[in-house]
Amino acid sequence: MLLSLPLLCASLAAASTLKSQHHQIQKRDDTVCTDLSVSSNNGDRKVAIVLDSSGSMAYNDPYDLRIKAGRALNDFLISSSEASGSQKADLVTVIDFDDAAYLDYPLGDPGKANSSFDNVDATGGTYIASGVNMAIAQLNGGGGGTDKRSAIVVFTDGEVRVSHTTQLISTLR
Ligand SMILES: *[C@@H]1O[C@H](CO)[C@@H](O)[C@H](O)[C@H]1NC(C)=O
Repeated sequence: MLLSLPLLCASLAAASTLKSQHHQIQKRDDTVCTDLSVSSNNGDRKVAIVLDSSGSMAYNDPYDLRIKAGRALNDFLISSSEASGSQKADLVTVIDFDDAAYLDYPLGDPGKANSSFDNVDATGGTYIASGVNMAIAQLNGGGGGTDKRSAIVVFTDGEVRVSHTTQLISTLR
């Protein structure tokens, strides 16, 4: 199944084991990410949606495509009311970051997460590692482990200070 998102998804960090594996996909110039795909939709996933809410988003993402994409991804996940038979419910957490990370939605039912996207604004700096660290902490909670079922999807313009980039890399190692 292919999941197409109308967005600038600057980087995607998907982890089967949160510490040792990650992929980064740069998609700055495309309007649609066609290579975000999932091999099955049977649910039972843990997904962290991490949104840049720094000041630069006001001009790099004036139509809030990152928020629309985050909502679309959340909508794609299986809520507890949609789960039945072989389809298990997913878990989602919604986080935004500028100078610090904010927990908009603690790891829980995707069916109740939509309104938490209303909190995402566009002011402040771009402390991306704070958002990713919070995502890892959320995914490690909720029981059932993270192996081969967890992903962190970061929506950002990638305008990050060098010191913060270094910190992000050590976070992902
Ligand atoms: C999510 O919230 C947005 C903004 O309020 C709304 O337009 C959209 O219909 C909602 N989506 C769902 C699936 O409820």
